[in-house]
Amino acid sequence: MSSSIISTTQTIKPARNILGSLQLPGDKSISHRYAMLAGLAEGTTRLTNFSTGADCASSLGCVAALGAKVERKEDGSIEVTGTAGQFQAPAGPLDCGNSGSTMRMMAGLLAPHPHTFVLLGDESLSRRPMERIRKPLSAMGARIELTDGHAPVTVYGGPLTGIDYATPIPSAQVKTALLFAGFQASGTTIVHEAVRTRDHGELALRAFGVELSRSQDKIEVRGGQKLRAIQAAVPGDMSSAAFFLCAAVLFPDSNLVLDGLGMNPTRAALLDVLTTFGAKFKVLNLEEKNGELIGTVQVNAPAGGLAGAELSGALSAQLIDELPVLAAIAPYSRNGIRIRDAKELRVKESDRIALVAQNLRAMGAEVTEHEDGLDVPGKQQLRGAEIHSGGDHRIAMAFSVAALRAQGESQIHGAEAAGISFPEFYALLDRISER
Ligand code: S3P
Repeated sequence: MSSSIISTTQTIKPARNILGSLQLPGDKSISHRYAMLAGLAEGTTRLTNFSTGADCASSLGCVAALGAKVERKEDGSIEVTGTAGQFQAPAGPLDCGNSGSTMRMMAGLLAPHPHTFVLLGDESLSRRPMERIRKPLSAMGARIELTDGHAPVTVYGGPLTGIDYATPIPSAQVKTALLFAGFQASGTTIVHEAVRTRDHGELALRAFGVELSRSQDKIEVRGGQKLRAIQAAVPGDMSSAAFFLCAAVLFPDSNLVLDGLGMNPTRAALLDVLTTFGAKFKVLNLEEKNGELIGTVQVNAPAGGLAGAELSGALSAQLIDELPVLAAIAPYSRNGIRIRDAKELRVKESDRIALVAQNLRAMGAEVTEHEDGLDVPGKQQLRGAEIHSGGDHRIAMAFSVAALRAQGESQIHGAEAAGISFPEFYALLDRISER
């Protein structure tokens, strides 16, 4: 979190049940991509249900600093009039706040433009690895300077040439950065990914008029293409929904309905995992908009309590943002959870493996930390505790959910971090919690 934000503490009291129906704010990953592409497109893009999180406001701030016109309308929609393919030289550094997505994907989008750009972040973002974008973008011809592998990132932009690149770690941000550079480069850019990561970058590019193809693990985009403005409603955020879905499966009589939820298959692995936990889902009103699936999801808890799961390999990469909350509810399951191949959790907004272990222990749980994961045994009763978010939105929200079934109330310190992706979180959690 930025140091200018005052730290707040939120009290979470245990709940008796979860009941209700909600429509969640727009998906963070999609909102970032629409904001960035709208900023470079020709024409005015109109976005409804745009993410309300501070992270996506950072992306809007960056495109505004590059010459796009960003207007927040009274009805809550956002209009972005793009720069028709030509970013202007910004007056100062581009502030990415806490947002790794903004910094990495903007670096790709900017690199073909003939100016010098400095991308800055807060303390947490300035600790996160940036070599993963420097290397492939440099291979395309950009000159990029990092500070010991981290932000500030200085991009000396100019004409780029397409490359054929296999991402060494599964990362949708890196894949998207390369495709964002590739459609503006000369020649063709090919990205191979061993694990299929979220494909919102590909779908957003297509929605803005870029032709690209995908076969097996390979995405190909021709250079020299242009973006044209779109009208879009951003689907509800599955990674925000994860907190409420995980809360609902903790209570045998729960009933939760989430409308207008993003159901993109590359984001829906959580529904499979909760199904193996024993949860029952109904999906209604499925439709496709701008290539993204949207639907209504109803969840009911398993009658015989939560089973537990083993999460490793590709599944860990696909569930990367949901692992903290799954680990936080694991003590309430029968068999617990075993997470492996999730080393990337250590370089998110915080070291999420260490913070999940620390906060579970504070609640009285037994947990074993591994370099690339966690073992959380089942059949444990937790007690309310002092929780520390470490300035990480997903830690604050994951432990607010765990606190609903604990004995006694919990204090979430650094609760304001939720605003990075989901400012309405505590109010909505309170609305669906019966006490
Ligand atoms: C994101 C990709 C993931 C995810 C992040 C959002 C995206 O990061 O953890 O919250 O929008 O592409 P990585 O690309 O680092 O895996």
